[in-house]
Amino acid sequence: MTRAVIAGSGTAVPSRAVSNDMLARIMDTSDEWIRERSGVESRRYVEAGTSTSDLGVEAARQALEAAGVGPGDVDLVVFATMTPDHFFPGAGGMLQARLGLGDVPCFDIRQQCVGFLYGLQLVDAHIRAGMARTALLVGAEVHTGFMPYSAANWEHLYDDARPGPTPEERAWNTRFRHLTVLFGDAGAAVVLKAGEDGRGILDQALHTNGSEFDKLYVPGAGFRRRPYVDAGQLERGEHIPVMDGRHVFKMATTRMVEVAREVLARNGVGVGDLALVLMHQANRRINEYCQKALGLPDDKVPHNIHKYGNTTAATIPLLWDECARAGRIRPGDLVLLVAFGAGMSWGATLVRA
Ligand code: ACO
Repeated sequence: MTRAVIAGSGTAVPSRAVSNDMLARIMDTSDEWIRERSGVESRRYVEAGTSTSDLGVEAARQALEAAGVGPGDVDLVVFATMTPDHFFPGAGGMLQARLGLGDVPCFDIRQQCVGFLYGLQLVDAHIRAGMARTALLVGAEVHTGFMPYSAANWEHLYDDARPGPTPEERAWNTRFRHLTVLFGDAGAAVVLKAGEDGRGILDQALHTNGSEFDKLYVPGAGFRRRPYVDAGQLERGEHIPVMDGRHVFKMATTRMVEVAREVLARNGVGVGDLALVLMHQANRRINEYCQKALGLPDDKVPHNIHKYGNTTAATIPLLWDECARAGRIRPGDLVLLVAFGAGMSWGATLVRA
């Protein structure tokens, strides 16, 4: 049987690291609160002007090199992001043009934190059906556009010798703190090739429950409005995501465990057969709960949330690349990928590396 095999991966992580203490300069928060509640110690932010497609292009170049694939070989692009450069068109075509991939089809998908797994399904289905042989799957995000800080507050964040926020600005920044402290910017990519040797995407389970979309969503800047964005929405902060953190936490722990069990059971795979389980990095406590429920030992569940925070669609390929480059994923290893995010969507993918 032909399957999509991950042939190479790459990442693009901005060089600017932002600690929890730096965030506390512009809002009421603390290193202790953020670490204890989420496991995030630091995250990376792009410089203003750097976009999601910029990170995607850099990550894709690395992935192509790692896979030994030239631009002329790629016959399918899938770009997953919830923070595209423009409302439309999507970032996939921009990446295709900048990498010189030719007029190959480019899908832009938006399943947020599960975007990479949805992308894997799309690529695998194309490869199994013989409609593609070599695909580039990219997950990238620039979340800093969601951050509500004024230009002066950004300067103070990076340099506390600059003037600090007014009490009103501090209160405004604090209003969004349960969300903003969790996220970072990053891009990551994989090249998938058709393979017939038993390696590749073995099975996937993907789910969505749209009835809960408003537990994590952007209330403004959408086409229910006329015009779709205006100054009033910006003043009310409706361009910034709304998140019911406790509900999302509860659903993530329930659904991730459920879907992991679903895929393992129907493939007759036990926890002991897995080399690694790569979980979406939204909150370390969510993953520790899932690890315990699934009976996984510490050495099978790598984390990088402390360094990067939640990087949405980039998270799983970023973790894959990190583990692959560290020699923690070897050819033939069974790896389970598990994610949950806005939509609400969740899924698990069983891969033979
Ligand atoms: N710093 C300090 N205090 C804070 C902060 C902060 N950054 N954020 C919230 N608090 C305060 C709250 O105001 C509240 O104060 P109160 O008790 O005086 O009212 C207190 O801390 C507790 O707040 P909770 O929201 O109950 O804290 P909780 O333990 O639930 O942690 C968190 C919040 C980290 C957001 C958690 O709920 C979580 O991680 N949820 C899941 C997030 C997630 O998975 N998101 C998916 C994103 S993926 C995607 O698709 C984009």
